[in-house]
Amino acid sequence: MPRMLELERCIQRYTRANPNSARQLDRAAKVMPGGNTRSVLFYEPFPLVMTAGSGCFLDDLDGHRYVDFLAEYTAALYGHSHPIITQALTEAIANGVNLSAHTELEARLAALLVERFGCIEQVRFTNSGTEANLLALAAAKAYTGRSGIIVFNGGYHGGVLSFAGAGTAMNVPHRVYLADYNDVDSVERLLHEHVDIAAILVEPMLGAGGCICAAPGFLEGLRERSQAHGTLLIFDEVMTSRLAPGGLQEKLGVTPDLITLGKYLGGGMPCGALGGRREIMAQFDPRHGGLSHAGTFNNNVLTMAAGIAGLEQVYTRDEALKLNARGDRLREQLNEVLVPLPMHFTGQGSVMNLHPTASPIRRPSDSPTDRNDLRDLFFFHLLECGIYSARRGLFALSLPLTEHDLNRLVTAIQAFVERYGALATEA
Ligand SMILES: Cc1ncc(COP(=O)(O)O)c(C=O)c1O
Repeated sequence: MPRMLELERCIQRYTRANPNSARQLDRAAKVMPGGNTRSVLFYEPFPLVMTAGSGCFLDDLDGHRYVDFLAEYTAALYGHSHPIITQALTEAIANGVNLSAHTELEARLAALLVERFGCIEQVRFTNSGTEANLLALAAAKAYTGRSGIIVFNGGYHGGVLSFAGAGTAMNVPHRVYLADYNDVDSVERLLHEHVDIAAILVEPMLGAGGCICAAPGFLEGLRERSQAHGTLLIFDEVMTSRLAPGGLQEKLGVTPDLITLGKYLGGGMPCGALGGRREIMAQFDPRHGGLSHAGTFNNNVLTMAAGIAGLEQVYTRDEALKLNARGDRLREQLNEVLVPLPMHFTGQGSVMNLHPTASPIRRPSDSPTDRNDLRDLFFFHLLECGIYSARRGLFALSLPLTEHDLNRLVTAIQAFVERYGALATEA
């Protein structure tokens, strides 16, 4: 098939252009399985190895510079080493890390989250989004005295809470029931069949599942059904909280009982948070012998200081609105360029995902998997144009990107359409 041939040629050029990255993977593979310690970063024939980042640029081991359109899978919202974040970190380091105690910083960051996100009355911090979701599920089970959890096919809530297809052997053993995204009836059925559902855990836009938006009425339906069945509604906004000043819960006007956060909220440092209604969060109050939630680094001063600086001084409400309006305009522009091809972007605001079809996507199974070669060709073509994204098609905007940088992406995609248009329409 000519498209496969073209992809092979593209990969050969990639291999020739990146000998140092290839060698580094071989070296790393001697001491780490497959040279990898973060599964999502691996791709064949070998992934690029980066040496530095600055603003919205990344430099690799073979001397190439890329415009970064991946932004650490959305966590690098501030770009690389934003001066205000860097200053906050420098001051925190100078002041002493690992203080073995409460500091004033965690309460300051918590207050910023309470002010920002309408559904949050109280907060607990973790070191990752995964941990935040584990904590949310534990809180919901303890609060309701029930043990079942409803999640969605294609939902991703962390490395041990991943629900694509049949799930993974890494998943924690919760009693989980799978519903279909954008299908309230599938949830209603589960709620009727099982009386012990503690929580519905849902991303208000499927992120890793392909930036699939919630259809009108879907989240409202979940809110209504969860209330009717005494079940808690948890929004996983680890990825989506950046999409509006108060997260998607604010933009879409649906208020969950609990919300989980992470990614950029620690200013690029490891971070996670669980927030929500006071009476649910009160279960963790140590003054009343509550649930014990330990974690050496839960209140680490680097995450707290960088998070505060980011929310107070950089990603203000105005900036959140502006960045996401830019993202919406860009996605529309890219989709216009892609009109001749069976490809389009879904998403909202500053986060989007490419799908190798022109048909609408309501759930992950709507995205064809038999055209992955087309998506791969797109990925390697963009690398040749100096644009870094995720092979699975995820793109995320960071604040330092200029109009010129966005135009580079548009031009690179125009070149893709011209160069590979005929191949792209192959079956
Ligand atoms: C929606 C969602 N939830 C949870 C996580 C897990 O966060 P972390 O990688 O910080 O554990 C992610 C990470 O991509 C995510 O996108």
